[in-house]
Amino acid sequence: MNNLNRIVIFGATSAIAEHTARQLVQNGASVYCIGRNTNKLNRIIADLKVRSVNNQVVDGINADLADTAQHPILIEQAIKSLGGLDAVLIAYGTLPDQRACEADAELTQKEIQINALSVINLLTLLANYFETQGKGVIATISSVAGDRGRQSNYVYGAAKGMVSLFLQGLRNRLMAKGVSVVTIKPGFVDSPMTADFDKSGPLWVKPEVIATGIIKAMQKGKNEVYLPWFWWGIMQIIKHIPEAIFKRLSL
Ligand SMILES: NC(=O)c1ccc[n+]([C@@H]2O[C@H](COP(=O)([O-])OP(=O)(O)OC[C@H]3O[C@@H](n4cnc5c(N)ncnc54)[C@H](OP(=O)(O)O)[C@@H]3O)[C@@H](O)[C@H]2O)c1
Repeated sequence: MNNLNRIVIFGATSAIAEHTARQLVQNGASVYCIGRNTNKLNRIIADLKVRSVNNQVVDGINADLADTAQHPILIEQAIKSLGGLDAVLIAYGTLPDQRACEADAELTQKEIQINALSVINLLTLLANYFETQGKGVIATISSVAGDRGRQSNYVYGAAKGMVSLFLQGLRNRLMAKGVSVVTIKPGFVDSPMTADFDKSGPLWVKPEVIATGIIKAMQKGKNEVYLPWFWWGIMQIIKHIPEAIFKRLSL
């Protein structure tokens, strides 16, 4: 797949990541999957091997990505297994219980650590690898929730907002080095993360829809994509509501 021949996925057990990996493998890409849940990871790797079309590499390793000390080793293993890297997708995350975080500062820190700081740790290491190589695609799943703080999920939103801003700066740094930095901002996705939500509205989409959008954005080296596209318009409106009004809304 031209610029996506050898790709490592951090958080490969995510529903969005799994569908992205399937589409990549079916198009002949080699994929290295890093995920926390051993059984799920093994099942996904076995399934991807069956779907592979080219005898390409489909491999992976189990890891808790909150453990940032392991990040350099994981990157090295991915490079070794794939024989180099063309692209990376960072897909893992948690959806914090906002109310529980309000009552527990330590839990808030833990959620910010996994959703923002550990991602930034990986991005820092990967950016240097791709900068030295002089090409590559770095894609990270952020969220529309990172565009504006809301009472119902501002711990998650703050973490995603930090990641989006970090990616913006990284893109600015790496543009001249031939490296694309892609920010993925999905809206409402029907995945295990949102298992407890009412998904009856028209804004909900399946993870495979997001997967197709991620691959297109990575192939084109896009800067930032809202998935599906209509979230761009929704977030333009939400971002432009004056704070004096926004703070009175129950969002
Ligand atoms: N679903 C949505 O509506 C939505 C909207 C916007 C953005 N997103 C973002 O999209 C990404 C993928 O989420 P999803 O919708 O596909 O949900 P998901 O299926 O629940 O995926 C989340 C994944 O993150 C993994 N993870 C969490 N903590 C980890 C850790 N410490 N180490 C390694 N892996 C860890 C989970 O692993 P385990 O299987 O071990 O728990 C799980 O596989 C996330 O970044 C999420 O924030 C989702």
